[in-house]
Amino acid sequence: MSTKYFTTPIYYVNDRPHIGHAYTSLATDVMARWARLSGHEVFFLTGTDEHGQKVEKAAQDAGMDPQAFTDRVSQHFRDLAATMGFSNDDFIRTTEPRHKAACQALWEELVRRDEIYLGHYEGWYAVRDEAFYGPDEIEERDGKRFAPTGAPVEWVREPSYFFRLSKWGPWLLDFYRENPDFIAPASRRNEVMRFVEGGLQDLSISRTSFTWGVPVPGDAAHVMYVWLDALTNYITAAGYPDTAAERWRFWPADVHFVGKDIVRFHAIYWPAFLQAAGLTPPRRVFAHGWWTNEGQKISKSLGNVIDPVRLVEEYGLDPVRYFLLREVPFGNDGDFSRAALIGRLNGELADTLGNLANRTLSLIQRNCGGVLPEAAGAGPGDEELLAGLASLPERVDGLIGRQEFHLALEAILAEARAANGYITLQAPWALKKTDPVRMAVVLRHLHSALRVFATVLQPFMPGTMAAMLDQLGVPAEGRGLDALARPLPDGTPLPAPAPLFRKVEA
Ligand code: MSP
Repeated sequence: MSTKYFTTPIYYVNDRPHIGHAYTSLATDVMARWARLSGHEVFFLTGTDEHGQKVEKAAQDAGMDPQAFTDRVSQHFRDLAATMGFSNDDFIRTTEPRHKAACQALWEELVRRDEIYLGHYEGWYAVRDEAFYGPDEIEERDGKRFAPTGAPVEWVREPSYFFRLSKWGPWLLDFYRENPDFIAPASRRNEVMRFVEGGLQDLSISRTSFTWGVPVPGDAAHVMYVWLDALTNYITAAGYPDTAAERWRFWPADVHFVGKDIVRFHAIYWPAFLQAAGLTPPRRVFAHGWWTNEGQKISKSLGNVIDPVRLVEEYGLDPVRYFLLREVPFGNDGDFSRAALIGRLNGELADTLGNLANRTLSLIQRNCGGVLPEAAGAGPGDEELLAGLASLPERVDGLIGRQEFHLALEAILAEARAANGYITLQAPWALKKTDPVRMAVVLRHLHSALRVFATVLQPFMPGTMAAMLDQLGVPAEGRGLDALARPLPDGTPLPAPAPLFRKVEA
């Protein structure tokens, strides 16, 4: 069995989870579920990023000790994973002993290879981004200074260890050219390449002005820069530094899913750290876009943060999962609007998919004695329908492989529309009297169509599709992609159908 390793960013515990966190993890979850459905052995990792100045400050503001604070907020992210139905195999916290050990081992390896030296940092730092900025990147407004991200910056002057990032620039450019799929989408790849072509500075990788971090081995005055600490989580969970560990077979990761704001850390620093330490870089970094809320930037100060838990309470889990990946091309920015959500749920889930299932299964109940009819002979329109269905799993596989989730859903929906066209044209309800043999054939084909849709939609809507497969009489061992090649036996009894999606009032 071939292995696949997918990761989400680890989330800062300075705040409660919001729609952006749910979104990155959802995409990763669908990817992981699809790979399992295809027969791969999958490791899906998520977790929380608990060190650094930003988290330390949030703990101070809450009047709490940082460990107690991170214990509390980290739990919200585990709860979110349960609410959203994420199928992660591990949940890493950077305050765990296994992670401290991995960070320190990586540091020592970099020291051994002369990739780290002690120096002095003087420059701008944005706590909100946990990032250093060059003087040319800083903007001044009303006497205050800001990073290009809008985060306020402060002047930092302290002793610091540096990673020799500058020397890795040419190697990185070669690496991007030899691995054209390493950064996706292409717009992000270009952005990263322009940045690296502009020349890289050595990177400050330790801080001395606060203590909430992993201590630098042999120099306790320093804690590691939070991004070096955070990125290392991806190898900690795979067993590093024990490269004989059972889990190490999953490295290198197949896809690191990230938001567009953190692509530089993943596509520049991370492969450079790994290569410098003699480890293999990940295969791909996919950067998705950002959500706005009804046309507005999402921010705490505007009070328009979208709480994924409330959304699920209101509309149900699977409709929310479907909408988030259906509405916006993965990689683009997108707008969250209730009208769009309701439009998709009613039009695509309830009217197109739900209706098709309900009509087909009710007719089988009523007219075929509740058992799967036999498909004897062929009629007009059958071939087109069956050809579209036969190629669907492979097309979806290609699209999900490129993280084009919206196109995968569009392809499935197009076949569901075709199946609705087929049922209208064939009118099996009218065939009962005129041609019952043909009626059975039509219903059998529609059943096959529904089985394909339910199978390929499992990663997107696991609960509802399990219910649909139950109604279709598909046994648990018949739900993988490979099982589609094995038709259910004629005469399989089907349980009474029940509606799968409910319409929502606008
Ligand atoms: N801790 C770092 C990641 C370290 S990974 C080694 C971090 N954490 S975060 O909690 O701030 O952000 C996590 C993810 O949420 C990012 O991928 C970010 O892009 C995403 N989002 C935050 N707001 C978002 C939207 N409004 N829309 C979509 N995603 C957004 O960065």
